[in-house]
Amino acid sequence: MPSIDLTGKVAVVTGSGRGLGLAYAHALAAAGASVVVNDVDEAVAEQAVKAITAAGGSAVAEVVPVGTSEAADRLVARAVEEFGRLDILVTNAGILRDRVLWKMTDEDFDAVITTHLKGTFTCARAAAIRMREQGEGGTLILVGSPAGQRGNFGQTNYSAAKAGIAAMARTWSMELARSEITVNAIVPIAATAMTETIPAFAPYVEAMKRGEPLPDFLRKGEGFGTPEDCAALIPFLASEAAREVTGQAIGIGGDKVSLWSHPQEIKASYADGGWAPDTLAETWSTSLGAEPETVGVPAPKFPEA
Ligand SMILES: NC(=O)c1ccc[n+]([C@@H]2O[C@H](COP(=O)([O-])OP(=O)(O)OC[C@H]3O[C@@H](n4cnc5c(N)ncnc54)[C@H](O)[C@@H]3O)[C@@H](O)[C@H]2O)c1
Repeated sequence: MPSIDLTGKVAVVTGSGRGLGLAYAHALAAAGASVVVNDVDEAVAEQAVKAITAAGGSAVAEVVPVGTSEAADRLVARAVEEFGRLDILVTNAGILRDRVLWKMTDEDFDAVITTHLKGTFTCARAAAIRMREQGEGGTLILVGSPAGQRGNFGQTNYSAAKAGIAAMARTWSMELARSEITVNAIVPIAATAMTETIPAFAPYVEAMKRGEPLPDFLRKGEGFGTPEDCAALIPFLASEAAREVTGQAIGIGGDKVSLWSHPQEIKASYADGGWAPDTLAETWSTSLGAEPETVGVPAPKFPEA
């Protein structure tokens, strides 16, 4: 088994004051990387730096809301000023503003798109510019979601942002291949401030906080566990062992790791000279639409009481 050693590498992890980002920052530091911890919440960012340093790692905090070019430039500049370079970027910062379409405001939409989609774009662009200047490759890890892969009730803004992020990973993996910069989207699931409020999971999250292990149907079936369960994927993707891993969407959570498919045509019909509405209706009912694709994130399958 290859051993993962990131000594001498420098990482920026956005939104890493708490939750999944914090677990990623810890895992990168434990593997030897120096980490720029970023968050909008100064207290949690400083606390994260203290904890990483206390565990023998190297970290500094840069408190700025991602979503603008200025914030992205500040993060890259801080990595270079403190540690001399940038090798790894994890675009993890995120918020939710859930509402059904007809109740979603422009503000709800813009806030989520700015943090997730524009935050990912601006940070990745600034990091790619720096990594290309360095000429030694690099790792971009973008954060998707099951909601982006499948759609999710009440998450117009979030599912759009996350689907866009997975699409950007595919595009950038092509654009940055020559520079040996890998770009992947990860699709994590974990108990965090973001998921704690989902009523179906609440009793299990409470139990987990009391130190009780999560049952197998959650850890394996749902791929639902702690933020730490997702963290090993980050140093792996940043390592030599994953040099060839790019353009992928990788699910992680609980005891499970998975590879997501990319959208592709799965069935086709042909009409010489093109289609008319009635021939389309005919082929839809007899062939193309016989087994339409499903949508949505499946509801958790709880065992029979
Ligand atoms: N928890 C899950 O099951 C899950 C599932 C799929 C995807 N994700 C994604 O993983 C990422 C982390 O989620 P989490 O569950 O740890 O959430 P969280 O709410 O626990 O943590 C998110 C962190 O990001 C920070 N943040 C928010 N806006 C920011 C901004 N503009 N700039 C910098 N920091 C900002 C917050 O202060 C917070 O510390 C998000 O992108 C989320 O969409 C989470």
